[in-house]
Amino acid sequence: MNVVKTVADLRAAVTRARGEGKRIGFVPTMGNLHAGHIALIKKAGQRADFVVASIFVNPLQFGPNEDLASYPRTLTADQDKLFEAGCHLLFAPSVEEMYPHGQALQTIVRVPGVSEGLCGGSRPGHFDGVSTVVSKLFNMVLPDLAVFGQKDFQQLAVIRTMVRDLNMPVQIIGEPIVRAEDGLALSSRNGYLTTDERTTAPVLHRTLQQLADAIRNGERDYSALLASGHQRLQAAGLRPDYLEVRDALDLSPVTADSRELVILAAAYLGKTRLLDNLLVDISQKAS
Ligand code: PAF
Repeated sequence: MNVVKTVADLRAAVTRARGEGKRIGFVPTMGNLHAGHIALIKKAGQRADFVVASIFVNPLQFGPNEDLASYPRTLTADQDKLFEAGCHLLFAPSVEEMYPHGQALQTIVRVPGVSEGLCGGSRPGHFDGVSTVVSKLFNMVLPDLAVFGQKDFQQLAVIRTMVRDLNMPVQIIGEPIVRAEDGLALSSRNGYLTTDERTTAPVLHRTLQQLADAIRNGERDYSALLASGHQRLQAAGLRPDYLEVRDALDLSPVTADSRELVILAAAYLGKTRLLDNLLVDISQKAS
């Protein structure tokens, strides 16, 4: 696996691969890779001939009081994992390489609507930072396809909308959440959890499962359901940031026409913000 740090070297390597007739698959990450990321790399390898990954902790998507400084940076271990997973090229730029003219005057890509509320509500500016860096990365790599995890469900919806609205010639592929045996969605931030918190954390997934079961069994009083979900999370010691049911198609409010729903949650456990979601197919109405 080749590792490049500049846009010029990245472009040269991708141009070479494309010249050999290869289809380019891309997986953008912020590093500290776990099995969820590896599944994205493997999916890219199934769908493309040349797999490019990026590792860049993007300052533009962190709020002033968030964990930019402490975000785990584990480049050497990440490189080994990428190599084993079949990645061909790693792009690991510096902040100066990505934002050579500084961040204050950087052109911003903003995706209205789908980026508002949920994580966008509690992390102002976060999705502007994500859509901007992903646009830049797409323009640098020029991939045929890019793979993103469904754990960041709203992020995936923002990127799909951006690609549609800006006519970007990139196929976006969403990969299902990878979970620990006890149900906790894998996340680079799980490492912040204390041992006790790690034992409690799967309550988030169990709560989503309970709500999903109720919906599958015909329950349609979403406010009552979500209130019971809030209570369950709080009783376990989590502080819910949001717990919502939306139409999975575009994150719009649920209507009588909705066929697939998504239950989305973010909750604090100690200092860690946990994120999870669960899809619920209601196209077959409960009898
Ligand atoms: O999901 C992430 O790790 C990041 O938001 C992404 C897509 C790599 C952009 O910085």
